[in-house]
Amino acid sequence: MYSYSLSAPAKINLHLEIIGDRPDGYHQLVMIMQSIDLADEIQIRANGIDQIRLSCQNPQVPLDETNLAYRAAVLMQEQFPQQAANYGGIDINITKNIPIAAGLAGGSTNAAAVLVGINLMWELGLTLPELQELGATIGSDIPFCISGGTAIATGRGEEIEPLPDLDSLWVILAKYEHLSVSTPWAYQTYRQNFGESYISDHEGIQSRTHQVHSGDLVKAIMNKNNQQIGQLLYNDLEKVVLPEFPQVAELIATFKESGGLGTLMSGSGPTVFCLCEHKTEALEITQKIRSAIVNPNLNLWIAKMCNHGIMNN
Ligand code: C5P
Repeated sequence: MYSYSLSAPAKINLHLEIIGDRPDGYHQLVMIMQSIDLADEIQIRANGIDQIRLSCQNPQVPLDETNLAYRAAVLMQEQFPQQAANYGGIDINITKNIPIAAGLAGGSTNAAAVLVGINLMWELGLTLPELQELGATIGSDIPFCISGGTAIATGRGEEIEPLPDLDSLWVILAKYEHLSVSTPWAYQTYRQNFGESYISDHEGIQSRTHQVHSGDLVKAIMNKNNQQIGQLLYNDLEKVVLPEFPQVAELIATFKESGGLGTLMSGSGPTVFCLCEHKTEALEITQKIRSAIVNPNLNLWIAKMCNHGIMNN
């Protein structure tokens, strides 16, 4: 086949902890990641000419090499020049449903879909770990986005260990339309403010990583204890993003007053999510938020956790 249509789910972080610095300039992380069914649709097609062409209905999405989906296609051309010569260039169309620069891995999941799609289109036969290894070279969240579901991510975020699926919970997402947070800014500011408390020795990093692996949130996920999951949500980056963006802090406080299992900022923000056991509760809380914060720029979505990453439709 010369064209594929793929679904690319967003992610939220149930736990994001910054442990220390890495020699490569990134941060050593321990995260618990969760896919949600708010997804972009990606179509890829062999175009027979020697060009990568990107299109998207959302004018805010860049269509050049600054887009991770574009970089994923370039990476595949570089890695597999023979197939690139046989099939020609690639047209990539993105139907954007996931908000941009929102802490939901929208760009990474698009790149993940391009890698999975080209693997199919060019009949490369790469395994999931092989695709994840390639993906890690262009973005830390891409390996998780490929496999999805519920997982622990360590290292830069690219080392993935699956956890039992947690796909029964509902997720309210809230984001102010014109607010975006730069991920490099969030990590750099965290380093400036909290770098002194970083764990620097290899054993210390391993020990902290192990503590999260065998910690209460992982146990709560194993036991499907939804109340505990809600109470144990944690994100270090809130410490730098909330003081800088009081609107986001206010949004979190309003969610916490409105019910649900628990509320957290996802990734480097500014999207805030609230977990609920039932859809009716999610709808009620959404109404409460709309009444409490009357602002046409506040967008709300109701999604559900899902147990997969990139899907070939
Ligand atoms: O890997 P990715 O390109 O998604 O990361 C975006 C930015 O986030 C990096 O340039 C870096 O500033 C920061 N980051 C980090 N440590 C990580 C992941 C990301 O410092 N483990």
